[in-house]
Amino acid sequence: MQTILVTGGTGFIGSHTCVELIQAGYDVVILDNLSNSKESCVDRIKEITGVGVKFYKADLLDLESTKRIFDENKIDSVIHFAGLKAVGESVEKPLEYYENNIGGTINLIKAMRDANCKSIVFSSSATVYGVNNKVPYTEEMTTSATNPYGYTKVMIEQILNDMTVSDKDWSVVALRYFNPIGAHESGLIGENPNGIPNNLVPYIAQVALGKLEHLRVFGDDYETPDGTGVRDYIHVTDLAKGHLAALEYAAENKGFQPINLGTGNGSSVMEVVKAYEKACGKNIPVVVTPRRAGDIAESYAETSLAKKLLGWEAKLDISKMCEDSWNFTMKNPEGM
Ligand code: WQD
Repeated sequence: MQTILVTGGTGFIGSHTCVELIQAGYDVVILDNLSNSKESCVDRIKEITGVGVKFYKADLLDLESTKRIFDENKIDSVIHFAGLKAVGESVEKPLEYYENNIGGTINLIKAMRDANCKSIVFSSSATVYGVNNKVPYTEEMTTSATNPYGYTKVMIEQILNDMTVSDKDWSVVALRYFNPIGAHESGLIGENPNGIPNNLVPYIAQVALGKLEHLRVFGDDYETPDGTGVRDYIHVTDLAKGHLAALEYAAENKGFQPINLGTGNGSSVMEVVKAYEKACGKNIPVVVTPRRAGDIAESYAETSLAKKLLGWEAKLDISKMCEDSWNFTMKNPEGM
């Protein structure tokens, strides 16, 4: 049985990926510093799968603790989610983002190399397409960034690419996520941000709960069908299944391979609001405000490479994403 180390495994995408890994027959070890998640998530994963996972409360910035995990477990591959991910916060705290995301990844790679574990699936982001590429985004487009968070993703992809050049035994798949939303259909795990959510759907969920008064729509003057921002929303369970396919691909293929994980379809802010209203049976009041700094009009994936290399495509639609998000929110009004 293959053992997979999941860094950031108690987080939103990490926890959903752990569930799919366990149900596919993998052994899972989680490393998480709990800076943006709770240890109770480990129990939720066990409640869903009936299987316990080994959990290490550890920080990738602590190289010795990271190495110890490889000493105590024979890790076959790593799925690397751990990292800070708030765009706005990264502008205010660039040093924390560079140290945590890049420094943490460098320590992880050192520990992997010393343990002769050379297979990694990296949690990258469509944010690496920057503002100069045209939608739909394809993997050979140049990468760039407009904020420190985005630069950490661009730089970590470069570091991992360089590892595969310096040592031909390394297998790296950089999964470029579009906009992950929704929750496991059990409602036991889901998106559980600390404080006021930055992202659209968790914010709408709080409005639906009555905890926030209305949704601010950040601009309705974009060159899009209804003037509001268009994004490629993907169900977190589809995304998690994409990681299993990427692990299998990495087991058979050396080298560096970026792959988009999206649906290929764009939905506007107002289309998501309408889908959420249908899912929760409530009205979501909106107030149109000026655009949010750094936002682009449209972002959605060209998805043929994932289909070709991984045999994977997203299957769940925006209605199911909103229904599962609302189901989790109703069952966890105070979060997990
Ligand atoms: C989606 C749309 C907003 C909130 C970011 C990161 C990306 C990834 C996902 C980490 C946009 C609009 C939002 C609100 C709104 N994160 N919006 N009111 O900005 O596409 O992507 O999160 O990996 O890397 O860049 O996601 O959910 O913040 O915004 O009108 O209160 O909703 O303008 O059009 P985004 P988002």
